[in-house]
Amino acid sequence: LFLTMRMLRIGLLGLGHVGSAVVEALGRHSTLLARRTGTTPALLRIGVRHLHKPRRVAVDPTLLTADAWDVVRDPRLDILIEAIGGVQPAASYLREALRSGKDVITANKQLVAAHGADLKALAARLGRAFLFEAAVGAALPIVQVIGAALAGDRIRGLVGVLNGTANYVLTRIEGGATREEALDDARARGLAEPDPHDDLSGRDTAAKLAILASLAFEVPVFPQDVPCTGIDALSEEAIRGAHRAGIPVRLIAAARRTGDGFEMGVFPARLAADHPLAQLVGPENGVLLYADLAGEVFMKATGAGGAPTASAILGDLARAAGRREDLSAPAVPAIVPLRSGNGIAADGQLVLDGWA
Ligand SMILES: NC(=O)c1ccc[n+]([C@@H]2O[C@H](COP(=O)([O-])OP(=O)(O)OC[C@H]3O[C@@H](n4cnc5c(N)ncnc54)[C@H](OP(=O)(O)O)[C@@H]3O)[C@@H](O)[C@H]2O)c1
Repeated sequence: LFLTMRMLRIGLLGLGHVGSAVVEALGRHSTLLARRTGTTPALLRIGVRHLHKPRRVAVDPTLLTADAWDVVRDPRLDILIEAIGGVQPAASYLREALRSGKDVITANKQLVAAHGADLKALAARLGRAFLFEAAVGAALPIVQVIGAALAGDRIRGLVGVLNGTANYVLTRIEGGATREEALDDARARGLAEPDPHDDLSGRDTAAKLAILASLAFEVPVFPQDVPCTGIDALSEEAIRGAHRAGIPVRLIAAARRTGDGFEMGVFPARLAADHPLAQLVGPENGVLLYADLAGEVFMKATGAGGAPTASAILGDLARAAGRREDLSAPAVPAIVPLRSGNGIAADGQLVLDGWA
């Protein structure tokens, strides 16, 4: 069946934490992607900086090139996925990819915060897709929720935790680690940028808030316009003390409409322990949206790391490929009723640990 399908020819820039996870996920989920998009995804070219660096995934070495323009200009490709980071040269690569007829997907918040509006306009003019779900909160599907699910609603404000590294560092310090230990572990787990300054200073969060505020309020907001205080000046003792007092510190991004404009900022804040954002631990991110019709909408997910970011990128890939109607009748699944000892304890309590 899949042999007769159209190929979805993909180029990838970057083979670090995110790029490798995309390669792995494309392999692991190739059948479901084929079923859902009616295409066969094929990774044809990968741009890196160092051709001979050891990689955590096995890739055919003939796919690799150290000249990103080879990928950007490859006329065979339908889609370019950018996972290199930084504003330039990534912005030039994405522009050229759009101009040469490709859909583009990026995980790069600095780029989207600085050039999202003009890339979106260019893509619209050319009839191409510019998608960036992975750029805010990795697996947190916030861009689609604001842009599609709530497209008929009016968002009044939002408050969130949008940096997995900062949240990881805060909650590890609460648990007794030093800042340096927490940062080293965050780096080893592929959560932190090589230079975590932007994570701790709040600048990374400000870039993500600028993206979300632009989408939610339909006005241009740039990272440098977002007032920002990070967690770098907070002592370990202050973080542990607040945690012990039941008012843990989280690095918050908040924005809301006012009578004639907007209020927004990034800052460390103490939260009641039962607040949904206070309960985010490790690399978790979360956003609470306030909308006219929907009321409050809360979402949380793993906000950093290769696989969660790859989940968002593959979602964008499926969106760019377009879903097809599946005309084949799927087999009726076997369904077993939930019973005590099978997800429900003898006293009737639902056991959610490791539910699925
Ligand atoms: N890590 C996360 O948890 C996470 C989550 C969400 C979004 N993101 C975003 O995803 C992007 C990538 O992050 P990462 O953590 O995967 O970074 P990374 O591990 O440092 O990987 C970056 C990759 O890009 C390649 N590269 C850099 N500059 C290049 C250039 N000019 N041309 C070609 N290749 C280039 C590097 O090549 P070499 O390997 O050859 O040096 C490397 O493979 C960033 O925008 C980041 O903000 C990351």
